[in-house]
Amino acid sequence: MLTLTIDGKEIGAHEGMTVLEAAQSVGIEIPTLCHHEAITPYGSCRLCTVEVTQRGRSRLAVSCLFPVTQGLEVQTNSERVKKLRRGILELLLARCPSSETLQDLAKQAGMEQSEFDFSKDDKKCILCGLCVRACQEISEKTVLSFVGRGIERRIATPFYKPSDDCITCRACAYICPTRAIRFEDGKLVLPD
Ligand code: FES
Repeated sequence: MLTLTIDGKEIGAHEGMTVLEAAQSVGIEIPTLCHHEAITPYGSCRLCTVEVTQRGRSRLAVSCLFPVTQGLEVQTNSERVKKLRRGILELLLARCPSSETLQDLAKQAGMEQSEFDFSKDDKKCILCGLCVRACQEISEKTVLSFVGRGIERRIATPFYKPSDDCITCRACAYICPTRAIRFEDGKLVLPD
């Protein structure tokens, strides 16, 4: 057992825990999008970033990957963290303006509704990769993967065709934070 401080509160944590797990264990909320306790953390959305201080030096760190250490000081809502969080949410909302999950997170971050631009194409998918990892780690399949680069990057099945490997377990749809994946008539429907 070791001791660290999160938002001024001294807490105990087990070696091997991440800062996010330690915070959640005492009810301190850190926003997340690409994290799920059943899936190996990957650190793609960066929304869970916090400010950590070790040996007098502060820096930003992704809390779902950053391990707890003895004496670590963590701030989950410093000005640096809030600024970064708003920047990340602005980018994600520009991609998926109608996502209620993102809108709720933006409101929690103190962003105004007027800052959201609903006029753009709505991609729905934020490319967090949770569906890909759920397919691999929970269903032990490789039905979904990232394809393309830059703005063409998306989640797809092999050759964009229905996959015989899909066991319709629905883990991908269940875990998707923006509800971009759904099943219709028992068939997997991916965002454009
Ligand atoms: Fe940690 Fe996405 S929740 S990077």
